[in-house]
Amino acid sequence: MNALRVQSGAPLRGRVRVPGDKSISHRALLLAALAEGTSVVRGLATGDDVARTRAAVAALGAYVDADRITGGRDRLHEPEGVVDVGNAGTSIRLLAGLCAGFPWLTVLAGDESVAGRPMDRVAEPLRRMGAIVDGRGGGRFPPLVVRGGTLTGIDYSPPVSSAQVKSAVLLAGLSAEGETVVREPVPTRTHTEEMLAAFGARIEVGDGRVAVRASVLRPFELDVPGDPSAGAFWVVAACIVPGSDLVVENLYLGPARAGFLDVLARMGADLTVFGGDVRARYRPLKATEVGGAEVPGLIDEIPVLAVAAAVADGTTVFRDAAELRVKESDRIATIASELGTLGARVEPRPDGLVVTGGPLRGCRVCSYGDHRVAMAMAVAGLAAIGETVVEGWEAVSTSYPGFEETLDACRS
Ligand code: S3P
Repeated sequence: MNALRVQSGAPLRGRVRVPGDKSISHRALLLAALAEGTSVVRGLATGDDVARTRAAVAALGAYVDADRITGGRDRLHEPEGVVDVGNAGTSIRLLAGLCAGFPWLTVLAGDESVAGRPMDRVAEPLRRMGAIVDGRGGGRFPPLVVRGGTLTGIDYSPPVSSAQVKSAVLLAGLSAEGETVVREPVPTRTHTEEMLAAFGARIEVGDGRVAVRASVLRPFELDVPGDPSAGAFWVVAACIVPGSDLVVENLYLGPARAGFLDVLARMGADLTVFGGDVRARYRPLKATEVGGAEVPGLIDEIPVLAVAAAVADGTTVFRDAAELRVKESDRIATIASELGTLGARVEPRPDGLVVTGGPLRGCRVCSYGDHRVAMAMAVAGLAAIGETVVEGWEAVSTSYPGFEETLDACRS
């Protein structure tokens, strides 16, 4: 196991660029595999999750060469072996949707964390559309087996607000007879519908519903913007380390992705946003409340927002975020435990966290194999007294190879 050693003290200064957005990268690869011809996607996310989707579309018959992907329905075929998505929940759920539309058997498996993540949320609507989907635990957990075929559109209101569920159903809808409609209880990230519209799908969006019909996608060129979920670590770090003044460049700040900036603004953070660039300067923070409809738009940022809350004045409450329990780790449990180890007062709740600000003291903490827990703890270490050691640092390769080098560069 690798460990990251973090010394507190030095402010963060200068300009930082983050990897390409992970959500957009997964979708770009999947849609390029479906598109009839060669697409060019520049700036794909560099982590292991997106590498898994790249390997998966190649296993399905797309030709992938650096930033060029040649796809098309007639190229695609049944994969010869098990498709291994590693740690990537987005890959497995979106691939299940895509493969449901083809008359093959696809077996989708992942690591120990993915094996414990709920898949009934995608299996159930895909079955309703006509696919056969099975898995461990009565079809609820990976490995997932998808026998696709002739699908019929459904009108679906997912019980959880999840962009992955919406996307899986829409991807299946591209191969279904009739109209496939998804109605979301609370809006989630809109990448799939935006990219489908841009690349030629027959899609309608409005009034809380997305409707798609069987479509032929045209190849496309895309520059993937920076990942706001990666940028959030630097923004929070600059907000909480005295003397910091940092610009995080070229972030995607579209619908349901920039909610963390609103929360930090409510906490009194010194932020300036121009285009996709965010300038963050140190200023003492105060507590806030996070809940309701804003949660899906910042769910991945709660680990690092909890760090901001741990050094803010007062008690911050995160609620309506039970989804955190089924991410790469049970993030309510892992954040409460590791922030607690650093001396923060954190109370886990069934649907969130109550965090009371105070001084943090450096010590040994653990990632639990979760990239966002690892990076959140590194940020906490920057604001703690003394040295913090983050064990299980290798988990960061899931989304952010190079985090450590960027940290060194903006502190020198
Ligand atoms: C994602 C959606 C969110 C998010 C995940 C990426 C996506 O998950 O937490 O990291 O790319 O669609 P849910 O759809 O499960 O909320």
